[in-house]
Amino acid sequence: MVAFSGAGLSAESGVPTFRDAETQGFWLNYDPGKLASPEGFAADPELVYTWYNERRRNIAQVQPNAAHRALAARPDIVNITQNIDDLLHRAGAREVIQLHGTLTVDRCDGKCGYEEEVALHDPPAARECPVCGNWLRPAVVWFGEALPMEAWTEAEERCRSCEVMLVVGTAAEVYPAAGLIGLSKSCGARIIVVNPHASQASALADIEFCGKAGEVLPMLLGG
Ligand code: APR
Repeated sequence: MVAFSGAGLSAESGVPTFRDAETQGFWLNYDPGKLASPEGFAADPELVYTWYNERRRNIAQVQPNAAHRALAARPDIVNITQNIDDLLHRAGAREVIQLHGTLTVDRCDGKCGYEEEVALHDPPAARECPVCGNWLRPAVVWFGEALPMEAWTEAEERCRSCEVMLVVGTAAEVYPAAGLIGLSKSCGARIIVVNPHASQASALADIEFCGKAGEVLPMLLGG
């Protein structure tokens, strides 16, 4: 089994989604072009960095919810997530592939490859890379950027061989990540969707639970 997840997985912990009115989705209030693109970072690195630090502090103050815990209680499930928070890890999940990077690391915006861990509860201010002097930035994937190759290759492989894919809390609108659902389906997997609303994944669902992940997953996975 693979669990492919998005922002809805962390919504009940108090982390906003991106496009969901009910949870004050980020992109309803902020411009992704300004805050989540290489161009936006080049235009104002400190604005972008400060915004991510706000998200870091928010994530540090919240806890994994029943959905994270239900997934973590099933070491047979491989988690492939679009989320950049650390809530699955904090819940104790054994295997987590993060397709869009993580907020727990900063990396050099240049090509020197420098990386450093960041404490979510007390993130540093925007600063230069100690190796090459370029800006450091959150190690997340912005619009228009390629996904980390290792994570993508691993995710593809798992999606090709899984028998069941749980699709949890994603609008399934952002590619290439959303394409993994169709890949699993085309390789014969059964698709189980968990989302209180219809989404782009609904058309691929063999079974769809119209409910919140924190309520459905404990029942479904026996947490
Ligand atoms: N349980 C399950 N699903 C939920 C819950 C919940 N408690 N609350 C909301 N949802 C669902 C919404 O109905 C919506 O379909 O979660 C989905 C969240 O969708 P988005 O906000 O679009 O987030 P996501 O699909 O993860 O976005 C993908 O887009 O902005 C980029 O890089 C960012 O990783 C992100 C990507």
